[in-house]
Amino acid sequence: MRKVCVEHLKPGMVLGTNIYGYDGSILYEKGYELDEGSITTLMEGDLSYLQIRDSRDKETAREDLFRRCDEYVHEFFQYVNPENELFNEMFRQTLKRAFKAVQYKWELPCAAELRAKNVEHLTDALFIEETRPEEIVKYETELVSFPDIYVQIQEVLNDVNSSAEDIAKVVSRDIGLSAKLLKLINSPFYSLSQKVDSISRAVSLLGSNEVSSLALGVSTIDFFENIPPELMDMKTFWKHSLRCAVYSRMLASRMQGVEEDKFFTAGLLHDVGRLILFKNMPYASVQVLLFARGNMLPLVEAESAVLGYDHTDVGALLLEEWSFPGPLVEMIRKHHKFEDAEPSVEAAIIQLADNLAIASDIPSGGRFVLPGMGQDTLKVLRLSVEDLQELFDMHDQYIQGVLDVYL
Ligand SMILES: [Fe+2]
Ligand SMILES: [Fe+2]
Repeated sequence: MRKVCVEHLKPGMVLGTNIYGYDGSILYEKGYELDEGSITTLMEGDLSYLQIRDSRDKETAREDLFRRCDEYVHEFFQYVNPENELFNEMFRQTLKRAFKAVQYKWELPCAAELRAKNVEHLTDALFIEETRPEEIVKYETELVSFPDIYVQIQEVLNDVNSSAEDIAKVVSRDIGLSAKLLKLINSPFYSLSQKVDSISRAVSLLGSNEVSSLALGVSTIDFFENIPPELMDMKTFWKHSLRCAVYSRMLASRMQGVEEDKFFTAGLLHDVGRLILFKNMPYASVQVLLFARGNMLPLVEAESAVLGYDHTDVGALLLEEWSFPGPLVEMIRKHHKFEDAEPSVEAAIIQLADNLAIASDIPSGGRFVLPGMGQDTLKVLRLSVEDLQELFDMHDQYIQGVLDVYL
């Protein structure tokens, strides 16, 4: 027996349980074989899922499951050019993951399930009609300031007389932060040949820029609390961000002339504007979610349609306000910009990493469509199909070690 969403019912499927009508009487008995008429009746009812008996042989059931998966992934990729061989490889990898997940009981999401629940009580601190990204960021920064530790790191970094040892001293003062940093640096992702047991050793191996940038990213995770849980599961959010961080750094390390030290943090914080929106405008954020789902749009486009701006505008402004390094802010600002006349390699890395992260996490189910990216932006990265396969494989190998540090 398996759980099937009403939208995926097909004639010939056999009910595994009785279905009751509004008055409590049996509408369809267990064992009933569905036809077009009964499917229409069921779709008009309140049930989102039904128990369906596996009446056919295993091979046919498997083929059927694969076909449904293929349809779902095609919908997921509807904003992506199917003629590009890299996107094709991304499609293949995503389908492989989706199919594996459904065999392990992941149920393909349906619109009914993705409707936001229990959101009536949410109120926005700011009103859509009256806000621009500047006001939201001003409101946020007046309310709370960024963790002290980062301000101290910045002071040391900006001081021409400071040494790598000074950075290590500042970071080491925060025990929780140092412990997380060491765990991350010692995870297989960093592939260091020896165990690093102190921040000063980490600084001498990775450089003060990378360590301070990581410290910045790690402190930010703890900074965002109080997001209504029915709106956004913070674990899911950071999981996506960490996947993007891993892909970003891996991509950066393959590019000539690109310094990889800030890419993990850029990937980690690329969607931070979305958190600011959820935090200050939860009700408007629900409208964005519903609009995206109802119209099968990537979230970023739904944001523009409903709010008039998107999370990249808000995120970049916030990080600017917090004096984050300019190049990092620019990467975040441009991570959904498609039609850039001269796309930068840095922004292209975050854009591709974001798509790869979403594709790799397809069974999380929260996203209906992939945002995609501009062909010209993708071109500047000069990747081959083999490179992409390798990236997927390496991500799978490293991701758990990184997730374990944070979540
Ligand atoms: Fe984004
Ligand atoms: Fe993202």
